[in-house]
Amino acid sequence: MAEPVIAQTAPFGVDVEAGKEYWWCRCGRSAKQPFCDGSHKTTEFRPVQYKAEQTAKVFFCGCKHSAKQPLCDGTHKQYR
Ligand code: FES
Ligand code: FES
Repeated sequence: MAEPVIAQTAPFGVDVEAGKEYWWCRCGRSAKQPFCDGSHKTTEFRPVQYKAEQTAKVFFCGCKHSAKQPLCDGTHKQYR
């Protein structure tokens, strides 16, 4: 398995809207972090869907190594 690019060593806080779908960038190459912009095409990675159940601020993983993708689980601390 190829390694994703570490977009940043911290999560991205995003205000999401209930009922909306979001596509989290899994490969780390998107210029529109934390979301997919299609840059994964030359990689084996695909974006991960996130469906917001409520309107709230959520923290999407920026290091791309979370075990709870697409959300941050604190794993980024080991890359600092
Ligand atoms: Fe990274 Fe699409 S650009 S998964
Ligand atoms: Fe990836 Fe926190 S930013 S686990």
